[in-house]
Amino acid sequence: MNTELTSEPTSVLITGANKGLGLETARRLGELNWTVFLGSRDAARGQAAADKLTAGGARVIMVPLDVTSDESVAEAVRLVREHTDRLDVLVNNAGTPGKILHPAEATADEIHSVYDTNVYGPVRVTKAFLPLLQAAQQPRVVMVSSGGGSFAVVTDPAQPVSQMHELAYSSSKAALNMLTVRYAQAFPDIKFNVATPGEIANRKFAATDMNHHTGQLTVTEGTDSIVRLATLGADGPTGIFVDRLGPAAW
Ligand SMILES: NC(=O)c1ccc[n+]([C@@H]2O[C@H](COP(=O)([O-])OP(=O)(O)OC[C@H]3O[C@@H](n4cnc5c(N)ncnc54)[C@H](OP(=O)(O)O)[C@@H]3O)[C@@H](O)[C@H]2O)c1
Repeated sequence: MNTELTSEPTSVLITGANKGLGLETARRLGELNWTVFLGSRDAARGQAAADKLTAGGARVIMVPLDVTSDESVAEAVRLVREHTDRLDVLVNNAGTPGKILHPAEATADEIHSVYDTNVYGPVRVTKAFLPLLQAAQQPRVVMVSSGGGSFAVVTDPAQPVSQMHELAYSSSKAALNMLTVRYAQAFPDIKFNVATPGEIANRKFAATDMNHHTGQLTVTEGTDSIVRLATLGADGPTGIFVDRLGPAAW
């Protein structure tokens, strides 16, 4: 896989970048001298995160962005357009686990609220930023999914997730995987790929608030797959699913 970086100035928007894997992705891409649009649904927490990265020398612009709101997404496009007429990379990272309810307890409303963030969120943001992405020379979209969205993983009895009974989160990430494949097919000039932050073979995930810091990987390790796909070279792949060790099974 060609991961050679372009020498052109590069811009990236990351959703849910006020903490966790989104923030670490922002830090790492900021270190590469990229312009980082740091999305955060809470402006104050987003600004505090952006200020820390800026103090370290990165070029970071905080973008208030709630992926469940069409108005917020439209306002984010307006703000980004004040700074640039093209966007090289979009990282759809914002996500929620929901309440992790047993299928006996799960309701359509609860599932809908998880889909609003994990499925419709990336659709809202991707659609709204398409014109800016299409204005870039080598646009890339990274969807942050999960091993839990993989049929191969969920049906493997050796994987702990196969014993975890819930509907919303895993099916939302499976939907995100399929959306990514369909986007990749529809837009051959944009690289659309899926990253899962963990190491599927080793049943490891990254310690963040989402899992009450029970993960075995650091956020830096957890973002290896995201950064790899964000920095793909011109002849890199589209429509693939990877973890930090390599290709992941759908
Ligand atoms: N940690 C792992 O190993 C792991 C494994 C598989 C998949 N993932 C995926 O990785 C992504 C990042 O998760 P994380 O582990 O870094 O968890 P995290 O620390 O809880 O971060 C989640 C981020 O998403 C944001 N968010 C949630 N709902 C949002 C909304 N409606 N609009 C905008 N932002 C929203 C959160 O904002 P607030 O701070 O405002 O809540 C937060 O910034 C998620 O998509 C998750 O499903 C993580």
